[in-house]
Amino acid sequence: MSSFLLAPSLLAADFAKLGRCVQEAQQAGADYLHLDVMDGRFVPNISFGAAVVAAARQATSLPLDVHLMIEQPERYVEQFAAAGADVITVHAEATWHLHRLLQQVRESGAKVGLALNPLTPLAVMEGALPYLDLALVMSVNPGFGGQEFIQASLGRLEAVRRMRDRINPNCLIEVDGGITPTTIVSAVYSGADVVVAGSAVFGSMGSVAENVARLRDAVAPKLS
Ligand code: DX5
Ligand code: ZN
Repeated sequence: MSSFLLAPSLLAADFAKLGRCVQEAQQAGADYLHLDVMDGRFVPNISFGAAVVAAARQATSLPLDVHLMIEQPERYVEQFAAAGADVITVHAEATWHLHRLLQQVRESGAKVGLALNPLTPLAVMEGALPYLDLALVMSVNPGFGGQEFIQASLGRLEAVRRMRDRINPNCLIEVDGGITPTTIVSAVYSGADVVVAGSAVFGSMGSVAENVARLRDAVAPKLS
């Protein structure tokens, strides 16, 4: 039995074979499918929008974990909920009215996630925790796959875990960015319940099933 939930990020998949990649992730035992929406404003990169979320919804029964890296996400919450998002994660840095936005996500019917960039003060997470189902600790600067894990994220995961245990034990903690068979071990031990992995699952080194097994095996032997 594994001690974490795995959320492969479609950003690193072959976009010409999205349906197949989604199904491979599901067959390999993924727990969620992570979808990175980027607008070229909040982050430098542009990825995809609600149409791709809807296509993924058709291709899998896995819960869809939609990570909105867009400015003023309040403009699009209902659209992503209608497309089939099970969790909608917004960035605190992307809106002026975070409390209102979290309520809006709740009212859309999706689960509520909040992401913080690597240097955003954790007091924001602490204040928001009563409203959250998912607390996302970014371990890279959002915008691109394949970046190096920021080691200081481990201390942030530990701090968020303490807050979560005190304020809202039902909230899951997610880590996103730079996850490899090496970095996953300390990320899980520092508090991540849900691990996002793009390149480490859909990268070129092995099949999706082999890559998922490598991540699970990296953590499992350390548990007794
Ligand atoms: C980064 C995205 C991540 C990305 C992770 O902005 O939020 O979800 O897909 O990619 P890897 O796992 O390659 O760092
Ligand atoms: Zn992401």
